[in-house]
Amino acid sequence: MPVVSTSPTPTFIGCLAASIDGVIHPVRTPGYAQLGSDTDIAHLLTLRDGADGVLVGGETFREYPSHHQGHNKNHVPIVGVMTRGNNIHQSISPNAPLFTQRQNYPAPTLIFTKTMPTEAEKAPYPATVEWVQLSDSEADNAALVARCFQAKQAKRVLCEGGGELIGWLLRQALLNELYLTQCPLLLGGVASGQVDTARPLVGGPGFNKGESPQMTLLSNNCYETTHGTECIQHWQIRYNKGQ
Ligand SMILES: NC(=O)c1ccc[n+]([C@@H]2O[C@H](COP(=O)([O-])OP(=O)(O)OC[C@H]3O[C@@H](n4cnc5c(N)ncnc54)[C@H](OP(=O)(O)O)[C@@H]3O)[C@@H](O)[C@H]2O)c1
Repeated sequence: MPVVSTSPTPTFIGCLAASIDGVIHPVRTPGYAQLGSDTDIAHLLTLRDGADGVLVGGETFREYPSHHQGHNKNHVPIVGVMTRGNNIHQSISPNAPLFTQRQNYPAPTLIFTKTMPTEAEKAPYPATVEWVQLSDSEADNAALVARCFQAKQAKRVLCEGGGELIGWLLRQALLNELYLTQCPLLLGGVASGQVDTARPLVGGPGFNKGESPQMTLLSNNCYETTHGTECIQHWQIRYNKGQ
């Protein structure tokens, strides 16, 4: 169990690229899809340079199971992955580059899991993996995730998605800021009852207007790309009392 540290609670910062209608992964597109321009990718790498930790959901991990480095190859943020942990070797493969390419990447990996693997299941993972048991209380889980990064002296944790993770962080009032790259695209395709649907920026049960976190725009940097006008927006997020 992680040690409680006296350092301040980390700041959790979302960073995603979405179409104007809020899609982060288009329909009928298997695997990783780059929505933003190379300017957007360069911005993501700059944010990683300033991050002590990176947090991703299981789906995003499976599409990008690698280290999350920025421009500075000497800086390696701690990676945290959230999973329900059903069939752990399929959910979070021990053969992922994040685990097999460790020689230049000493930073620990935190796997937050609802189902704790057995010692035999843990055996193929490197010793730098730390397993953290999640409970059925999502509020307790949010506090635990924050404490675990805090115990590693992480001050800035970049939450790279996907939408289900972002929805969970918002419901737990844990996400403090959001860098949203608004891409000049209209993608649609977010529908229930279909096998293959687009993925939304905010997954899960959602909010009605009164429940929505309050969003204050801190900066908005727009530039032209081959596809149209792209904007990198930096938002501050505040939560209603009682949330
Ligand atoms: N455009 C962008 O900037 C961007 C950024 C990131 C990702 N993406 C895309 O978004 C898609 C993935 O997004 P997504 O919304 O489908 O999934 P996601 O948020 O990446 O991952 C969902 C998974 O995270 C785990 N998880 C989430 N909440 C949890 C909780 N409270 N407790 C325990 N585990 C939890 C579960 O993992 P298990 O399934 O392992 O149990 C769940 O299935 C991918 O297509 C990816 O390419 C786009």
